[in-house]
Amino acid sequence: MRSALTYLSRPDLFGELAGLKGQFYAVIDEQVKSHLPDWILSAPGVYWIKTPESEKNLQTYEKAIQFFLHQGITRTSSIVAIGGGATTDLGGFIAATILRGISWIAVPTTLLAMVDGSIGGKVAVNLPQGKNLVGAFHMPEQIFICRDFLQTLSESEFESGKGEILKYGFLSKAVHSLILKNAPMDVIAHECAEFKIQIADKDFKEQGERIQLNLGHTLGHAFESTLKISHGLAVAMGMKYLFKILHDQKALQEWEKMVAALGFPEEKLKLSTYPHFNVEMFKNYLSVDKKKSDQLLRLVLVKEIGTHIVQTITFRELIDKIEAYDEFNR
Ligand SMILES: NC(=O)c1ccc[n+]([C@@H]2O[C@H](COP(=O)([O-])OP(=O)(O)OC[C@H]3O[C@@H](n4cnc5c(N)ncnc54)[C@H](O)[C@@H]3O)[C@@H](O)[C@H]2O)c1
Repeated sequence: MRSALTYLSRPDLFGELAGLKGQFYAVIDEQVKSHLPDWILSAPGVYWIKTPESEKNLQTYEKAIQFFLHQGITRTSSIVAIGGGATTDLGGFIAATILRGISWIAVPTTLLAMVDGSIGGKVAVNLPQGKNLVGAFHMPEQIFICRDFLQTLSESEFESGKGEILKYGFLSKAVHSLILKNAPMDVIAHECAEFKIQIADKDFKEQGERIQLNLGHTLGHAFESTLKISHGLAVAMGMKYLFKILHDQKALQEWEKMVAALGFPEEKLKLSTYPHFNVEMFKNYLSVDKKKSDQLLRLVLVKEIGTHIVQTITFRELIDKIEAYDEFNR
């Protein structure tokens, strides 16, 4: 099933959602309250999220399920998830499992969620051992993108979104060319969202080409967890250090060109900027990363812009490369 991706103004968005009034069940990030109409602010079926990434867990999941059941949710209801990627992951996972699965609508409110997090139907919560370790594949019926939400987004969250956009710059020639042409951000973001929706549509359960969307994520998740930085910044670092430990100069040069064109502060993407970085914690995180199976890792690499390759290496080989690379072992 392909989700419908619709771009809407604020009045049109809330006009669409008003169709659910009376049966409005939603998981909403409190940070976007200033954008919401009164009827949503006072709707009884809203489960509010204060700190999305730290509430993207099984405890919140269970509380929200109890809440919706108490509110009278049924198999024909839908859940609306309004927020960044952490909120859409949580809301989508609740929808995937409550009453054996009901439909859901994603309303992404961060740049990252508009280009990636809310698209494609991979939904999950985190465990203490790692990110997204419990989840499902459950396509949203609709993805409503309203760029007005971005007016309140902080600079650092914009940067995070740019991290995933950088990833698409390697995977899609069209995105690469828009980035290097300094096209307006909404044009680039639109192209990224369309690219992801096509890939997810062709390979919903990640049996084949969808794996390319994990570019930068193996090291990225480990950076995110150990450095406590945003997801997109971590993915951008994940790509850079992957190319570095594999001595892929060509990809590294493209990375540098796109980082400059996107106006990324390069300083934030250097390991030396983070004196608290602990390589043992980093390696330990990698050892429980869900992409490791039977000690083998499938790393996504870039053959050329628009063409990825998957290299299978052992977990030990990856650790050896990290240990051999100076910057990790200051
Ligand atoms: N399912 C997928 O395919 C997929 C893909 C990429 C990322 N993700 C997940 O997405 C999450 C990262 O997404 P994110 O960066 O959107 O994180 P997030 O949901 O944690 O949002 C980031 C911050 O922005 C705030 N925020 C949200 N919308 C806002 C707005 N309009 N104005 C002001 N503040 C706002 C949030 O409260 C939060 O503090 C991670 O959990 C990651 O695992 C999922």
